[in-house]
Amino acid sequence: MYVCSCFGITETQVKEHAEAGACTPRQIASACKAGTDCGSCVRRIQAILGRGASPRREPALQGGLAGANDLAGRGEPVLSGLPEAA
Ligand code: FES
Repeated sequence: MYVCSCFGITETQVKEHAEAGACTPRQIASACKAGTDCGSCVRRIQAILGRGASPRREPALQGGLAGANDLAGRGEPVLSGLPEAA
C-alpha cells in the first residue's frame, strides 16, 4: 500500500529505510523523498516509525531526563522541571 502517493513510496519501502537506520520522517525523506512534496504522508510515515519499525532510541539518561519526558508527555514546559545547574 502506498504511503506517499507523490513519489510512489510504499509502507514496505518506508519500513526498509527505517530498518536501515532512518528514525525520523526527515531521514526517510532523505532516503526516498517521501514527504517532500505535498507533505500529506508525513503523519503516516511518523506512525510507521512509531510502530517500532526502527530501533527506538533508549532514554539517554535514566532519572534526569525521564522526569523531563514525563513533563513533555503532560504538555508542560520541560525545562521548568529540571533542577538548576550548579
Ligand atoms: S504524499 Fe508524500 S509528499 Fe505527497
